[in-house]
Amino acid sequence: MARAAITAVGHYVPPDTYTNAHFESYLDTSDEWIRTRTGIRERHFAKEGATSDLIVKAAHHCFDRHQVDPSKIDAIIVATATPDYLFPATACIVQDKLGLRDNPRLWGYDLLAACSSFLFALETARRLVESGQSQCVMVCGGDKMSAITDFDDRSTAVLFGDAAAVVLVELVEDSEIGIIDSIVGIDGQGGPLLRLPAGGSALPATEETVRRRLHFLQQEGRAVFREAVVKMADITLEIMERNNLKAEDVHWLVPHQANLRIITATAERAQLPMDKVMVNIDRYGNTTNATIPLCLSEAIDEGKLHYGDNIIMTAFGAGFTWASIYMRWGIR
Ligand code: UT7
Repeated sequence: MARAAITAVGHYVPPDTYTNAHFESYLDTSDEWIRTRTGIRERHFAKEGATSDLIVKAAHHCFDRHQVDPSKIDAIIVATATPDYLFPATACIVQDKLGLRDNPRLWGYDLLAACSSFLFALETARRLVESGQSQCVMVCGGDKMSAITDFDDRSTAVLFGDAAAVVLVELVEDSEIGIIDSIVGIDGQGGPLLRLPAGGSALPATEETVRRRLHFLQQEGRAVFREAVVKMADITLEIMERNNLKAEDVHWLVPHQANLRIITATAERAQLPMDKVMVNIDRYGNTTNATIPLCLSEAIDEGKLHYGDNIIMTAFGAGFTWASIYMRWGIR
């Protein structure tokens, strides 16, 4: 059976690094607290440009690395919580900046489901190519979290970073590889616990919303942690069980990178040793929709991924939203 598979990957991380010492210099926090509570040592922030600029650089890396002819791309899905604007869609801006004008069937849109957007977009791309609607979907996971972070709030300032990564999703005839199964879900009761209060139609921008710092994200960290730690593990185990995968059958768990303690708890419940778990939160913080594809892209550079590897990717985010995808790696 022909399946959708990831056929190319690229990433971009802006060059400017901010260690925990940067936050120690002006906030009531410490390197020790940040490292032990989150696992983060440093993160990168983009000094200029928007989310689309991060994605465009990741796309060029993908095209150059895999010698992609970009004219074959006929859909762009941008998974982001930090679109350049509410509209036009960042997908349109990315298409324009990449100069993708040769394919008359090209379309695209943004998909916003907080930290689960990338896996939701990957699942959508899978359905698009398997239905024949599209032949080659570029799924972009990118966030400029520094644009919505309150750097005066120690409880969120230290958590996030900026980055982007893209994957191409195409149909492959090889039945040994590709995206095999997915679990996706939402529960809107979690909404108030992690959100960007103002700037939408519920609370449009006013002088007061600016004064009250409501254009920055707000999180009830402990409550989100409790939900994330249970759900990440539950859906990872569920997708393994229903595909008859024992821990020894899984080559890689690629979890969303919100907190190293959530990642290790998920691995423990799935009985996966940490050397089978991809981690980049120490170097990049929580890059929201870049976390998972950035792990994959760097793993290619490090020679960690092999043809046929069983990979589970799992995410949990605001909304609440969650997803777990099982795929077999196909890039040689
Ligand atoms: O990616 C989307 C989904 N998001 C998540 O999955 C994030 C889930 N939540 C978390 O990762 C954790 O809850 C945080 C890392 C955000 C916070 O860690 P925590 O262990 O849950 O800390 P807490 O919020 O319970 O706060 C513990 C203490 C508090 O002080 P008191 O009230 O005990 O005196 C905080 O004020 O730590 C304090 N605190 C800090 N101290 C030093 C909070 N932030 C900091 C800080 N430096 N940066």
